[in-house]
Amino acid sequence: MARFGRWVISLLLSLYINHLRCFTITRTLTLLNTSPNRSLSHLSIKMGSSSTAQEEPQLVDTPAIVPSPLAQEPDNDVPAPGNQFAEFAAGCFWGVELAYQRIPGVTETEVGYTQGISHNPSYKDVCTNTTNHAEVVRVQYDPNECTYETLLDLFWSRHDPTTLNRQGKLVGAQYRSGIYFYTPEQEKLARESLENQQKKLEKKIVSEILPAKKFYKAEEYHQHYLSKGEKSGHAQTQPSIGRPLFYQLYVTLFEIWVGRRKGCKRMKNGYSIHTT
Ligand SMILES: *[C@@H]1O[C@H](CO)[C@@H](O)[C@H](O)[C@H]1NC(C)=O
Ligand SMILES: *[C@@H]1O[C@H](CO)[C@@H](O)[C@H](O)[C@H]1NC(C)=O
Repeated sequence: MARFGRWVISLLLSLYINHLRCFTITRTLTLLNTSPNRSLSHLSIKMGSSSTAQEEPQLVDTPAIVPSPLAQEPDNDVPAPGNQFAEFAAGCFWGVELAYQRIPGVTETEVGYTQGISHNPSYKDVCTNTTNHAEVVRVQYDPNECTYETLLDLFWSRHDPTTLNRQGKLVGAQYRSGIYFYTPEQEKLARESLENQQKKLEKKIVSEILPAKKFYKAEEYHQHYLSKGEKSGHAQTQPSIGRPLFYQLYVTLFEIWVGRRKGCKRMKNGYSIHTT
């Protein structure tokens, strides 16, 4: 019974974390990543103090964006033998990647940035909302095991294709909805599926369907982020049953706090592009 209660609490907490979306966890990670010397315990000391928390230097600096024609070149990477590429933008790439990883016949997934104006963008660049990159998942699939239509079905079911440059609370061009095709065949199927999907929806679909352009793989810590959750304690769909409850609580409260301080509040003030 105690075990069940713990499980339920873990589940509720996980759902809440999920609800807070990508930026909360990203923020936590960025805080931990950008300052190697700053430990979790150090941050926890600062938790109660609002004035110090506002002085995080990385919140305000905006990197200079240099446009480059290279970014507009086609994606010339080559998939593994017998495989094909497919590419989708459907909001925060973490969850989208996890969903595609679970499809039988999908042999490889990578998250990255594409369709923007600058060469080799970093996550920070993309989050300025000035590079026009979309967060995408580039999928490799074996066409004998899995059809492109299956991938399209997942794409439509995975997000809201009717909101321009946003998914829920995540706002900015990086969260736009798009299908980036590699072959004329993919383009045809994508356009047909959009038409079919439109019949099911009242609001107009705003997803773009464009040729795949140069793919910039995202920073290593973004790759397979949610499926690596066991390691970092943020697995999206599996509540961490075996983890001591106080630890889970601590992580959750910390994430909520970080989300509140750096995400939600600033987002209301229109600064979200610097903080996600
Ligand atoms: C981390 O600590 C080391 C040694 O104390 C120091 O040399 C380094 O500059 C510090 N790095 C940061 C980012 O503060
Ligand atoms: C992000 O940029 C797009 C154009 O690229 C713009 O339409 C949108 O309003 C911007 N969003 C925010 C939150 O600034």
